[in-house]
Amino acid sequence: MGISTQIESSIANSSMIRKMFEEGDRRRQLYGEDKVFDLSIGNPIFEPPAEVQSNLLKLIQSDERGTHRYMPNSGFPKTRQYIAGMLNDETGLSFGENDIIMTAGAGGALNVIFKALLNPGDEVIVFKPYFLEYNAYVNNYGGEICAVKTREDFQLDFAALEEKLSVKTKAVLINSPNNPTGVIYSEEELAQLGQLLKHKSAEFGQAISLISDEPYRRIVYETTAPSIFPHYENAIVATSYSKDLAMPGERIGYIAISPKHQDHDLLSVGAVLSLRILGFVNAPALMQRLLPLVGNACVDLAPYRSNRDLLYNHLIKIGFSCIKPAGAFYLFPKSPIEDDLAFIEAAQQLNLLMVPGSGFGMPGYFRISFCFETEFIERSLPVFTDLARQYHLID
Ligand SMILES: Cc1ncc(COP(=O)(O)O)c(C=O)c1O
Repeated sequence: MGISTQIESSIANSSMIRKMFEEGDRRRQLYGEDKVFDLSIGNPIFEPPAEVQSNLLKLIQSDERGTHRYMPNSGFPKTRQYIAGMLNDETGLSFGENDIIMTAGAGGALNVIFKALLNPGDEVIVFKPYFLEYNAYVNNYGGEICAVKTREDFQLDFAALEEKLSVKTKAVLINSPNNPTGVIYSEEELAQLGQLLKHKSAEFGQAISLISDEPYRRIVYETTAPSIFPHYENAIVATSYSKDLAMPGERIGYIAISPKHQDHDLLSVGAVLSLRILGFVNAPALMQRLLPLVGNACVDLAPYRSNRDLLYNHLIKIGFSCIKPAGAFYLFPKSPIEDDLAFIEAAQQLNLLMVPGSGFGMPGYFRISFCFETEFIERSLPVFTDLARQYHLID
């Protein structure tokens, strides 16, 4: 075959998820749209908040010249100043526009960060279960993922982390609220993580960057998700508006580098250069101009909360074991059998589509997405009951 061997093998490895999508389509055609419950993807079904549309209209109709041209690669200064100001209010630090780089979503942000940071063989520590794209993002630049176990409740296991930290560790990557578990790391945990990384950076004589991937930071229920910046100096945030403004298709996000990062100056220049080298050039202009206009707008979290409660309560009632998510829009219950792939296959036979835990480096579990209409989730509940019966969780 005439394509990259790496991509060829990635295609083979991703065939499980591809097969699932194909199976969903096949089943929808066979049984009808309303009979298939595809709870496998995290693509928000809700429309962006009203402010998004009204301000986009204003921007499109504005006769200001030059707004569609190239700009500084890091993005419009006005947008970056706006984000820096927001971070200063939140953290008490002194971010400036040069600490903010606008990106094509969080995925784009992470690629830019890894391009700027990694040498071949460098390790990036992640915590199981984790968003599997991280493997590809890190491998793109010759880095290697080192996956560390978490506790039963999916919170950080500091002893396990300490064991894996070494001179090869270039970065530790966290994701809170977490996809797929919905877990949020508390101030205390982040402080402990910051202390450990500070101590290890000093011991190894090099900065270990703490990267926080936080596209779900504002999708929270009873509690908020604390910022990493007050807890560690060598901190970098990668985030996007894909989930809180429900517009993943518009590809807008940013990188924020702590003004206290030990390699701050080189890293920010390196990240902007990486943005160009990777061919992103700059983040979409229209979306950058939109952000300061919509301020703190966020999708209505009430349907997500209802969906979470509905699904969580039902799953517990019918015998599944699951942590109640504090944020994001996924549940990550234990599979009733060890073989999560076989379990997902059995669910498929009932027209219920979900993602096996193996897809997040954590076999023995499965992920349910609940970013759908509540009515859709309600209709899926009897199918979960049938599934529980099949595995003798209830009579
Ligand atoms: C944990 C995590 N990180 C990053 C991304 C990528 O987000 P974006 O659409 O902003 O690139 C996603 C998307 O689902 C995600 O779940």
